Amino acid sequence: MKNKSLLTLADFSTEEITKLLDISIDLKKKMKANEIYQPMIGKSMSMIFQKRSTRTRVSTETGVAYLGGHALFLGSDDIQLGKNESLKDTALVLSRFNDIILARVYEHSDVETLAKEGTVPVINALSDKYHPLQILADFMAIKEHFGKLKGITISWVGDGNNVLHSIMVTAPKMGINLRIATPEGYRPLPDVTEIAKTEAEKYGTQFLITTDPLEAVKGANVIVTDTWISMGQDEEKDARIKAFEGYQVTMEMGKHAADNWIFMHCLPRKPNEVDDEVFYSERSIVWNEAENRMYTVQAVTLALLGLY
Ligand code: CP
Ligand code: NVA
Repeated sequence: MKNKSLLTLADFSTEEITKLLDISIDLKKKMKANEIYQPMIGKSMSMIFQKRSTRTRVSTETGVAYLGGHALFLGSDDIQLGKNESLKDTALVLSRFNDIILARVYEHSDVETLAKEGTVPVINALSDKYHPLQILADFMAIKEHFGKLKGITISWVGDGNNVLHSIMVTAPKMGINLRIATPEGYRPLPDVTEIAKTEAEKYGTQFLITTDPLEAVKGANVIVTDTWISMGQDEEKDARIKAFEGYQVTMEMGKHAADNWIFMHCLPRKPNEVDDEVFYSERSIVWNEAENRMYTVQAVTLALLGLY
């Protein structure tokens, strides 16, 4: 994986994703044991954030420091990008200073441009289309809970957004069945759906899209949702809240899932997507999911730098 960029997990094989998860699990052990492990001494990462972040920023900054490297937070008001300087020139300049670039952007094409024009690996820290780091953390949390990924059924009840897209391009090749409910008009993108369908056929996994949440959660081991209003969609708030009526994850909904179902949410969460009873219950693994963001971003960084 050395020198590769992580823009979407669609570009990564089953073996590569398995390797990233294995590295993440090893790093978690090392950190829990307070083991000194600093393969990034002398290395630096620039972190471009065009949108807000709690988990991605803090997990990356903390994780890189643990590994002995230095991560620089570059918010929209901190650098020339977007006002005085193009993405291409920013990519070329940062590549001269830093060993790797992580970027949270609006348009997915922006991370593609950074990767194309820069000369160092680029990590997508969320675009309007994909959120690969999140899915690595999610799959790590599922693996820790169930001891495996193969044969697990994930049901998505919510918006056809970046987080869902990342699950869709990753689940089949990890042997995971996927059942999706979105309201009409909020379906995942057609090109991503095509990838998911083709891969599900190739790997022999289940793939379903419906508008009925109860149908989607049938047999689910994992029920997952996300915000109904992603960053940048604030103007659509009222229409979205109306469209997602009946999509709140509750214990009642869970009665239609497998007995051992668990709940996941990438956070930040609002109660209309999932009620407190589920969110704060024993079934909810959201805090482990959040914690795993650190080990997975560390694993990706080390793998792309060829340092693990
Ligand atoms: N889940 C996630 O990416 O959270 P942040 O927006 O806080 O980084
Ligand atoms: N879908 C959400 C994820 C936030 C982590 C968004 O893009 O805002």
